Amino acid sequence: MKDALLYEGKAKQVFQAKGKPGQLVLSYKNDATAFNGEKKANFEGKGRLNNEISARIFTSLQSRGVESHFIERLNETEQLVHETEIIPLEVVVRNLATGSITKRLGFREKTLFEPPLVELFYKNDDLGDPLINDDHAKLLSDITDLELNQVKEKALIVNDRLSSLFASIGIKLVDFKLEFGRKADGTIVLSDEISPDTCRLWDLETEQKLDKDVFRQGTGNLIEVYEEILRRLEGLSW
Ligand code: C5P
Repeated sequence: MKDALLYEGKAKQVFQAKGKPGQLVLSYKNDATAFNGEKKANFEGKGRLNNEISARIFTSLQSRGVESHFIERLNETEQLVHETEIIPLEVVVRNLATGSITKRLGFREKTLFEPPLVELFYKNDDLGDPLINDDHAKLLSDITDLELNQVKEKALIVNDRLSSLFASIGIKLVDFKLEFGRKADGTIVLSDEISPDTCRLWDLETEQKLDKDVFRQGTGNLIEVYEEILRRLEGLSW
């Protein structure tokens, strides 16, 4: 199923897919990191949960017209994807203020962003993934003006689709991070993963946090809340 390990990140390994040029196997790890790798832990079952949750979300987005690198889930912890060259940008969409924006700019917790706010960060661990503007993004990531606008538009479309998907299972999509990659034909598609590692997900009624913040803040059981997300997604018909 897989050949050489090409890259190992904090939450996933990336392998060449055996006998399938242009395709990769993403293997989801049980490792969790926060604060740019300063806080680390290993949670049995996390890789399986994020692989399954991310696969369901990409499948749902594809059925709603949002193309991504995702091809299929292969087994408990692995998925097959199209090879892309990752664009070193983290595109964050925020519906409510929480997390870094409250500290960085002083927005009051839960301030509503209407329209949703899009922020760009430079994906660079050594620099601590700094916030950047459009001009920085174009200089740092070999992306044209038009492509950058398309990426931001796509991020807002993903926000629309995912906000209604999560609302239908009693969850508020507070914010999330996307990554994009360039396919061999030059087109840019949604890439990486979409999971409780990369989204803030709050129960609509209780505002209970059902995402990685329980690990970042040490306020809950990560596996239990990720299982709750998967359980609710399983209740949806595709
Ligand atoms: O920390 P911050 O408030 O900027 O995070 C915004 C959103 O982006 C959160 O949903 C967080 O989980 C996600 N994020 C991520 N990877 C990062 C930074 C943020 O998935 N490196």
